[in-house]
Amino acid sequence: MKKVSIIGAGVVGQAVGRILRERGYEIGGVVSRSIAKAEAAAAFIGAGEPGTDPVKGASGADWVFITTPDKAIRETCERIAQGGGFSKGSLIIHMSGALGSNVLESARKAGARALSIHPIQSLASSEQAVRNLPGSYFSIEGDAEAIPDGREIVEALGGLLVMIPGEKKALYHAGAAVASNYLVAVLDFAVMIYEALGMRRDEAVKAIMPLVRGTVNNVERVGVPDALTGPIARGDVETVAGHIEALEKYLPEMLTLYKALGRHTVSVGLAKGSLSGEDGEKLQKILK
Ligand SMILES: NC(=O)c1ccc[n+]([C@@H]2O[C@H](COP(=O)([O-])OP(=O)(O)OC[C@H]3O[C@@H](n4cnc5c(N)ncnc54)[C@H](OP(=O)(O)O)[C@@H]3O)[C@@H](O)[C@H]2O)c1
Repeated sequence: MKKVSIIGAGVVGQAVGRILRERGYEIGGVVSRSIAKAEAAAAFIGAGEPGTDPVKGASGADWVFITTPDKAIRETCERIAQGGGFSKGSLIIHMSGALGSNVLESARKAGARALSIHPIQSLASSEQAVRNLPGSYFSIEGDAEAIPDGREIVEALGGLLVMIPGEKKALYHAGAAVASNYLVAVLDFAVMIYEALGMRRDEAVKAIMPLVRGTVNNVERVGVPDALTGPIARGDVETVAGHIEALEKYLPEMLTLYKALGRHTVSVGLAKGSLSGEDGEKLQKILK
């Protein structure tokens, strides 16, 4: 069974270590900048040699996961390469969605292979990550000869695989950011509207959640654009005009965003086929 090292044992590193340990992989170095954190991480994983030296931690491992924050991945990899910590033929992996495997270039020069393997998932704690990584989609990008190992890793983590070309990594990450971060921003917009009605922020969040869950469930069930409902999907121009009037009065600073999202919603309604071209044009006019 392959030996795995975790360099940067935070939320993701600890979860990956724990799942792979449970799948029978041998855990080598578990590295953090503080020994107390490395020890706690090894305890969570249930195996591994805690330490603060990434060179020592990576030595002798078949798979080295560099799961530091994104900004430290390149320099951590360079440090291990300079210290001779990578074995020939070993595989170095980072799990950032924003960066390509090219930040692991120093490992390639040292004779190792490099992959980026990114879970399309939002992970707040190691416990949650252990539950949510299985069943998540993972993207893989990097050295062709390392893809079989990449598949083995994703399979061991219980994930599903999507391959993406390295040069489109930023585009891929933009999709994940829109699905997760922009969704939060749109929900913040909805909460602001309810605050303008006099609701408390926490009440407003609670009030919209059943609607949000229902919508997300519909997207999962019937997909996009079919999950679109509401006045734009129905071509109800008067109602949308009423929204614009109300926002002009009570939340004018958000009108630009309402209209921009509305214009894209018109495209979704047209694609669904529930909105006629004629009503679509009327809506586009008032959403300009
Ligand atoms: N969390 C998510 O939702 C998520 C989802 C997908 C992908 N990812 C990716 O997973 C990677 C790790 O993210 P994370 O959320 O697990 O971050 P995290 O919880 O902040 O963990 C990073 C760990 O790296 C350690 N560290 C920082 N600098 C280091 C260095 N120079 N050398 C060694 N260890 C160092 C930190 O501990 P010390 O401070 O003790 O060193 C910390 O334990 C990132 O590439 C991130 O983009 C995260």
